[in-house]
Amino acid sequence: MLFFNQSLLLFLGLSSSALASDAPDGPAEDPRLAHPEEGVYTGPLADGGNWKHAFDKASSLLAQMTLPEKIIFATGHKGPCEGNIPGIERLGIPRFCIQDGPTGLRFEGFVSQFPTAHTVAATWDRDLMEERGKGMGREFRGRGVHTHLGPVTGGPLGRSPLGGRNWEGFSPDPFLSSVASYITVKAIQDQGVITSLKHFIGYEQETFRTARWRINGTVQTFRQISSDIDDKTLHETYLPSFAEAVRAGSGSVMCSYNSINGTHACENDQLLNTILKKELAFQGFVLSDWDATWSNMSSALNGLDQTMPGQGFSIGGDFGATLVDLVNEGAVPIERIDDMVLRVLTPFFHLGQDKHFPDSPTNEPRDLTGGLLVQGNESDLQFDLTDDIPDVQGDHWKIIRKIGEESITLLKNTHHSLPIKRSTRRLAVFGSDAGPSLYGLQSCGTDNYCHDRSRPYFWPGTVTTGAGSGTAWAPYVINPLEAITRRARRSYTGHTQVDWVLDDTAYDYINITATRAEQCLVFVSSFAFEGYDRDDLSLWNDGDRLIETVASHCAETVVVIHSPGPVLMERWIDHENVTAVLMAYYPGQESGNAVTNVLFGDVSPSGKLPFTLGKSLEDWPPQGIIDELVDQPNATFPEGNLIDYRYFDANSIEPRFEFGFGLSYTTFEYGKASVKVKHSKDSKALQPTNEKFEGKGGLYDQLYVVSIDIKNTGRRSGSEVAQLYLTFPSSTPSQPPLLLRGFEKLHLKPGQTKTAHFPLRAKDLSVWSVEKQLWEIPEGELVVRVGRSSRDLGEAIELPELS
Ligand code: NOJ
Repeated sequence: MLFFNQSLLLFLGLSSSALASDAPDGPAEDPRLAHPEEGVYTGPLADGGNWKHAFDKASSLLAQMTLPEKIIFATGHKGPCEGNIPGIERLGIPRFCIQDGPTGLRFEGFVSQFPTAHTVAATWDRDLMEERGKGMGREFRGRGVHTHLGPVTGGPLGRSPLGGRNWEGFSPDPFLSSVASYITVKAIQDQGVITSLKHFIGYEQETFRTARWRINGTVQTFRQISSDIDDKTLHETYLPSFAEAVRAGSGSVMCSYNSINGTHACENDQLLNTILKKELAFQGFVLSDWDATWSNMSSALNGLDQTMPGQGFSIGGDFGATLVDLVNEGAVPIERIDDMVLRVLTPFFHLGQDKHFPDSPTNEPRDLTGGLLVQGNESDLQFDLTDDIPDVQGDHWKIIRKIGEESITLLKNTHHSLPIKRSTRRLAVFGSDAGPSLYGLQSCGTDNYCHDRSRPYFWPGTVTTGAGSGTAWAPYVINPLEAITRRARRSYTGHTQVDWVLDDTAYDYINITATRAEQCLVFVSSFAFEGYDRDDLSLWNDGDRLIETVASHCAETVVVIHSPGPVLMERWIDHENVTAVLMAYYPGQESGNAVTNVLFGDVSPSGKLPFTLGKSLEDWPPQGIIDELVDQPNATFPEGNLIDYRYFDANSIEPRFEFGFGLSYTTFEYGKASVKVKHSKDSKALQPTNEKFEGKGGLYDQLYVVSIDIKNTGRRSGSEVAQLYLTFPSSTPSQPPLLLRGFEKLHLKPGQTKTAHFPLRAKDLSVWSVEKQLWEIPEGELVVRVGRSSRDLGEAIELPELS
């Protein structure tokens, strides 16, 4: 694993109590000073947009603040949460608690471990995306968290399948990611919790993600990746889901560790001021990723509103008194400071956080490696998971289980191997991924980085989530073996024996047990974590060999995969004894129950792949993760818009399983798609953007609706995800052959027919003109196709001309 030490140091650095105030103030060179002719503030000042009432409230408080009080809102402080803003008692403004992360509350006890974003994306079910968001919002609010550090709305999007944090985001497809981002933001904020979209932007690899670590109190600088993204690719691939999440009214955006086109993301005037705040008309606050601030003045001028972790902690710019001085020297205009305060306070008032907001449970300082630091001594870390904290889980286990069931994607099912038949008498379960964690729920520390002296990183049981700030401790984990055993007892009492081998390499036992079994269920996984990219796309723990070993003895071998993204299956996918394969992603605490309900046929699988499964790493665009040891590593994004299936399609590469693919236990018949011109004004922008559009009406207005009837022709209930793909006229530059532009999941009883509708908005049919700096619908024939996956589509329909 490359750069193991550097990444490790990042975490040690963050967790060290030696987070002292001797941090240097970023690099010596300040672009503003180096280019005095640019030394004016170009950014827009917030006006509250649709949040006028809240903006006025914030303005009247601002009028009563001194300069040092204003700076409070721009500066993180030590406290019980991951990020803390102390508030101002005399003005009745409480301490703000800012907390990770995108799958649930990080390092808290008695909270839910939700399925990850890529798992809910695999359901393609808008209602489940919403329920998940609501559940998370309720838990964060219940624990007094004002700002939720999530969701991941496109940074990473998933440019490289090796990306260590891809599982924290929804999908490498911008449309699927956009839909999920909008819904998730709205659902969380509807619970009164601000979302912070991350990581803005171009944060597509962990390797070289940040260039500074504090080692024994000294800051050392290493290489830092710059994501060099052209304007067209940025607008068409990486920006859309941020734009949707801004439209959903997100109150915050987190700027990322990486540089963009050579400038740090958190002091990037073009990205923060011009694109985010002017073009997307973002009215909330930009908060830095932890230690992603490199300067005070440049960051303040170039669009950063709140630096984290802040005073006395940050390695780079840490605002506080420095910003007071910069204002007094005339280097940063007071209007910019006022703007920061208004941007922080407006979402606070808009979401009603000034009224009856629960307290965060404690004021005790929290250590980043050990939960709550009760003793001040680092060597004496203790978890303080007292019972004296509100139970916020409600019945979220139900939605967690449902998402687990609905995401599971059936990739292969020969000889009707699944669902497991009632007549099956001898089942055997294999793999460490089927069993409990050997050391318990919280044994791997706050962030689930499990390592010991003999093994650098591993996961000692069934994989339900990844590691890093995107993880959440589960209150319990139902592992597959436990759930399968219980299910067998319930329905098959006296008829079914469930045997197992959980040691992945105990081949003697595996051979004997597999030989005796009628049907074998092999659980394999791949683990991913923040700070590292994956080395390759192979299964962990010798998973390929485990599958081959079982399959060589067992005529019905069913493979279940828990994975953060693509894995390679070539060694065994065509093995005649591998009769069924399920992709189960990272489903959270109800993992075993969800997969069991699908295996035994209580639920028909209906998930579809939110990414492509290739046959070799070389199938994906080259230059994915840049790891060369050069002074300035640059990721140049040479593939442009052609990531994931778009690259496979454009280069005629046969995937193993295509984007959008997934089988069912039932069968569906598609009718003939039809299209209607149906204009309606955009009604979904909670905060409208300022994106320019050359055409009639608004960029987000609906122009057409495509419809298709789908019938369940089988004998079981089931759900089908119908998908719509667009093809631009061949004369349109830089476009892939197909772009997902609509989907609907229909739940159908046997014999039932329902109609799927795909509204098409102007933006869905537009491309970004770099020359004119606006969106436009290209001249020529626009064609759509509807079908079951990106490679199983019906006939082409030309969209009629608009009058
Ligand atoms: C760094 C991670 O990149 C970010 O996602 C997280 O929210 C912060 N640390 C705070 O934990």
